[in-house]
Amino acid sequence: MKTDYDVAIVGGGIIGQSIAYHLAKENVSVVVLEGNAVGSGATRAAAGMLGANSELDDDDAFYQFAKESQRYYHTLNQELFDLSQVSIQLFDRGMYKLAYNEEEAETLKRALPMNSTLEWHPREQVLKHEPTLSSDLVGALYIPEDGHVSPVDTCLAFSKSARFLGADIVENVPVHSIEKTDEKDYALQTAKGTYYSKHVVIANGVWSHYFLKNLDLQLGMKPVKGECLSVKSDKIKLEKTIFYDHCYIVPKGNGKLVIGATMVEDDWTTEPTFGGIQSLMNKMAPILPDIKYATLLDTWAGLRPQTIDGKPYIGQHPSGEHLYFATGHYRNGILLAPKTGEMMANLIVGKQVKKEYVEAFSLTRHIQQVMR
Ligand code: FAD
Ligand code: GLY
Repeated sequence: MKTDYDVAIVGGGIIGQSIAYHLAKENVSVVVLEGNAVGSGATRAAAGMLGANSELDDDDAFYQFAKESQRYYHTLNQELFDLSQVSIQLFDRGMYKLAYNEEEAETLKRALPMNSTLEWHPREQVLKHEPTLSSDLVGALYIPEDGHVSPVDTCLAFSKSARFLGADIVENVPVHSIEKTDEKDYALQTAKGTYYSKHVVIANGVWSHYFLKNLDLQLGMKPVKGECLSVKSDKIKLEKTIFYDHCYIVPKGNGKLVIGATMVEDDWTTEPTFGGIQSLMNKMAPILPDIKYATLLDTWAGLRPQTIDGKPYIGQHPSGEHLYFATGHYRNGILLAPKTGEMMANLIVGKQVKKEYVEAFSLTRHIQQVMR
């Protein structure tokens, strides 16, 4: 069994797999150590929206990074398919944020100056595109760039492509500890023996909380549990993702709709509750009257990894050691996975990374705040 690598990545969710893919493209010897099955954490729970415009409010470095990641999906769509034969299921028909009264409409219209691609569609126009929505709406903000992918398939496509380019992906090996050694740089203790590497990337989602605490960083991570359900309907014909009152309906093709998601702070449980699913049904039933005839397919939950300011950590441990973090992607890990993988690979191989991104995602942004 090979146990020596240039880079070991802890966690095989979409972030770990994207990093492995981008490092393998640079001919770096890399292993992903996944404690469970590839993509079995928050990645499996996600709706897959690429919501750069619908989820982020400020025109800052984070937004620019998100936009670049969203655009990068259009290249990756074919690139990953060619290597893995897995389709990421990129749907590119945009999103409607609905308004049911003038006050909601005014709030949504405030986003229009931020991006010239945004449009305001009055009621008749919305219903022309989406005739199965309830007809009492006032209008909707049309966000053409916010499509969606299948999170599980995208994670698999990154993983298979990384493997094809020489990466090793090992499942069912939780990493218990990471120690610096004299002769080899890092020793990662797992239930199935010790792995050695020159660089370590901690990318295990909300569970990186423990490494953030144990590696001399006074930083933590909070879970924000999200519950979802899926249904199948022949009556409902949705083209675009529908967003209303912090919840969404994502049309996944062949009549399947994913409906999400609750926001339960500081809850480490990963089972959906009756109350959580009921709250989603109550919110969405008035928007899509025919949903009462839909077949219930599934319910599930996952844990969003939330940092202090809701932005991810993508960077080096402040000690300057070859220890990196790529975690805390909160509500947008699927959207941000492509650029996160590329940025982390560039940091490790010494390629240039935009200074504003290094600063925006550095681990020291909070340490400086704590010291002030
Ligand atoms: P994870 O997917 O959680 O992966 C971490 C992996 O690390 C897991 O596989 C776990 O088994 C493994 N692991 C843990 N500890 C260890 C260890 N000690 N050793 C080895 N392996 C370990 N984002 C979007 O962009 N769009 C969306 O529409 C969207 N919808 C969402 C809906 C819901 C309900 C939820 C919960 C999240 C949603 N997100 C969405 C957010 C997105 O799912 C996350 O930001 C993203 O999946 C984080 O990916 P990750 O790889 O960092 O973490
Ligand atoms: N980005 C959607 C969610 O986190 O629920």
